[in-house]
Parts: sequence; structure tokens; C-alpha cells
Amino acid sequence: MKHPFFARLYARVRPTLDQAGAAEHRRRLLAGAAGRVIEIGAGDGGNFAHYPPEVAHVLAVEPEPFLRAHAVRQASTAPVPVEVVDGTADRLPAAAASADVVVVSLVLCSVPDQATALAEVQRVLRPGGELRFYEHVAADPGRLATVQRVADATLWPLLAGGCHTHRDTAAAIRSAGFTIDQLDRFTFPPDRTTPAGPHILGRARLTA
Ligand SMILES: C[S@@+](CC[C@H](N)C(=O)[O-])C[C@H]1O[C@@H](n2cnc3c(N)ncnc32)[C@H](O)[C@@H]1O
Repeated sequence: MKHPFFARLYARVRPTLDQAGAAEHRRRLLAGAAGRVIEIGAGDGGNFAHYPPEVAHVLAVEPEPFLRAHAVRQASTAPVPVEVVDGTADRLPAAAASADVVVVSLVLCSVPDQATALAEVQRVLRPGGELRFYEHVAADPGRLATVQRVADATLWPLLAGGCHTHRDTAAAIRSAGFTIDQLDRFTFPPDRTTPAGPHILGRARLTA
């Protein structure tokens, strides 16, 4: 999967967004995570510095070659062991029930089908395992939601590596059989209105 324009843009913009507050979201996303982690769509490795020492191993799956090369470099300075591999959300290169935690950050906006990706998350999570998510999502009905629909139907996915802004990702997580234990909603950046502004950050478990 190659998105040369978006990949180069994202690798430049991501550190700036992190400085503007996204790093704190990443820290909250990963706080308390432990054991074996699978991170889907790791990008240039923006989360790696935030894994706590209780994490034994991160399998970081990234399909885009430019971003994957950046992720490999980030992995070399990560505080925990990170293995970066090629792969996609709909077919994770991991055994069933092999993960204590699955991490998705800013990626369920881009997968071709959220239900398929979340079924893969179910497959690789051990019973009782946890899904950690940090995603930009659909706005509540209104002007911004309309802008998102238009963006998704026109240039946004082409410019942003297949990203869609008007996805109700919390609903998709619940529909896939997860119970959401924690859910924060916020706008980021807080001082600007953009189609990718509404965010969710939280934790979910498979419903027994
Ligand atoms: C906006 S970037 C986010 C990167 C990283 N997760 C972060 O938080 O900075 C979206 C990422 O999703 C990846 N991606 C897109 N489609 C994917 C798929 N079908 N399976 C796995 N990753 C995918 C992209 O290659 C890219 O790295």
C-alpha cells in the first residue's frame, strides 16, 4: 500500500501535532498498557515513545513503506521492544489470541472496512484483552458533519491516504462486540474547526 504524498506529509506534520497536544493524547492512550501489544497502522511510530515499561513487546503493523521505514527508526530508540512489520488491518500478521492489548490510533478512519478490521482485532486479542483507541470521528449532526460528508465524497480520501472524516467509530467498536469502558470526546486542535477535529479516546473489552 503506497501513499507517497500523504506519507511524506504525515511524517512532517505528526511531530508538530504531537507538540501541539497529540503527544499527551498518545500518553493517555497507552497509560497502563502491559504485556504483548499489537499496534495497527503505526505510521511513522509516533506512539512508540509513549509505551510504558510494563509492555513486553509491540508488534507494529504498517503497510505504507515510507512510514514503515520511519517507524523502524523510531523503534530503535523506543523504551520497549518494538518489531515493525508490513501488513494490513484486515489480515494481521499475528496468531489468534496472541495480544493482551491492541492499539489503533488515527487508523480506523482509513481502513477500507471497519467491521473487518475490528473482527481481526477480536481474533488477535486474548480473552479479556483490551482495545485502546484514539481516533478522529464523525461530528454530531450539523454544519461540520455536512462538511465531513462532502469532504469524504470528494478530495479528502485522495489527499489523506484513504482517510474518512465522517465515521462513527465508537458505534463500530460496539457493533463489533466490544464494551467501551472509557470514552473521552474532544476536539483537536481545540482552537480550530477542521473536518478531522472531533476525536474519541478510550478503552474497550470484548463482551463475554
Ligand atoms: C493518520 S496515519 C496514523 C499513524 C499512527 N497510527 C499515528 O497515530 O500517528 C494512518 C495510518 O494508517 C495506516 N493504514 C491505512 N490503511 C491501513 C490498513 N488497511 N491497515 C493498516 N494500516 C493502515 C496508514 O499507512 C497510516 O500509517
